[in-house]
Amino acid sequence: MSTASDHLMDADLRDSGERLSLDELRALQLERLQQTVRHAYANVPTYTAKLDEAGVHPDDIRSLDDLARLPFTTKEDLRRSYPFGMFAVPMEQVVRVHASSGTTGRPTVVGYTQGDLDNWAEVVARSLRAAGVRPGMKVHNAYGYGLFTGGLGAHSGIERLGATVIPVSGGQTTRQVQLIRDFEPDAIMCTPSYLLTIADAFEEAGLDPRETSLKVAICGAEPWTNEMRLELEQRMGIDAVDIYGLSEVMGPGVGSESAITKDGPHIWEDHFLPEVIDGDTGEVLPDGEMGELVFTSLTKTAFPVLRYRTRDLTRLLPGTAQPNMRRIEKITGRNDDMIILRGVNLFPTQIEEIALAIEHLTPHFVLELVRRGRMDGLVVKIECEPGVKPVVSTAAAEILKLRVKERIGTTVDVEIVPSGSLPRSEGKYKRVYDLR
Ligand code: DLL
Repeated sequence: MSTASDHLMDADLRDSGERLSLDELRALQLERLQQTVRHAYANVPTYTAKLDEAGVHPDDIRSLDDLARLPFTTKEDLRRSYPFGMFAVPMEQVVRVHASSGTTGRPTVVGYTQGDLDNWAEVVARSLRAAGVRPGMKVHNAYGYGLFTGGLGAHSGIERLGATVIPVSGGQTTRQVQLIRDFEPDAIMCTPSYLLTIADAFEEAGLDPRETSLKVAICGAEPWTNEMRLELEQRMGIDAVDIYGLSEVMGPGVGSESAITKDGPHIWEDHFLPEVIDGDTGEVLPDGEMGELVFTSLTKTAFPVLRYRTRDLTRLLPGTAQPNMRRIEKITGRNDDMIILRGVNLFPTQIEEIALAIEHLTPHFVLELVRRGRMDGLVVKIECEPGVKPVVSTAAAEILKLRVKERIGTTVDVEIVPSGSLPRSEGKYKRVYDLR
């Protein structure tokens, strides 16, 4: 079987940004940081006020270390200026807007100039190349088109690379299966949970998902574990790589993983300057330490961000496949997803990791937070593989409960539910239901 990595041994196709030496990169970052701070300070009242209040002037940014003098920007800052209050150029120069799904209250709206869209397409094209996609290949794009950045962001990058985009968007899974069979794409882009839905749909149609033309999946937009990667790779006979991004900073392609090393997304540091901070104190942490990921955009014109707090938890690691740019460890949780159960912190991905290592359990599960008397409880509702005998599924549930207790230190209830009874993903999967 040929997979994406077979193509990675060809000539060096990296663009000029990827080829910079570390010294050149740091010099470029400083120059771009100075420009960005000046531009944001001069054109966005929120930044003017925040910098003035912190007693920092754009001229004070003389080295990359001075970044730490700038105040943080939070989702709240962006919400307060809904819809266009943080745009740094007149509306006539904004050629597109996107918005992030507002799970709580108003969405945040972001804007792009034509130049911003060009840079975005470039970093997505880079991401695809790192995944082994080459000009002339066909890419099935099942990220949702619309205000969500996934669909259109991926779309432009595929075109920029010189590959053929098949703009399917999310949903209508039976049709996705048909199109994959008929158009024979080399690569697919969608959330990991939706790829699982597609794999299931192949099997339900009596087809072997390993027999498709697909060689690689470029998955992101939600946390997923290496165990989930293995599950997808084995079920579909593909390589699955991780693409990271967020609307506030750009969209998909802030960083992406190499299909050779599969060791976490490299951040495209010539466009986005990463930091990891202690979420409680705001102190900058040294590379290698776990904390909250923070980004400063370096080339964005319509919607520059200074030290934007992503709420995503990870750490910065040295570059590997892309030696001059740092990686992040695969993101397995965000602050917002953390469940505090009777004083113990728990992320849904921890359950995913444990469940997928237990025979007969599937990645189809949801977590329900319930109230029992004065105590909070967590119920893991999970599907077993179809056809598994009740004694076997009961044993699997028991093992899951034990391992959760052992590794996370808290007791959960595990309920095996009938195959196919849990909702299936069509994009970002909703895992947690708070029923308290
Ligand atoms: O999800 C952008 C995107 C689209 C990325 C397609 C990758 C592929 P938002 O809707 O603004 O943007 O959501 C951003 O999703 O802060 C993370 O919490 C989460 N996220 C995105 N990529 C990953 C990933 C898009 N690879 C939020 N791993 C981010 C884990 C991810 N979480």
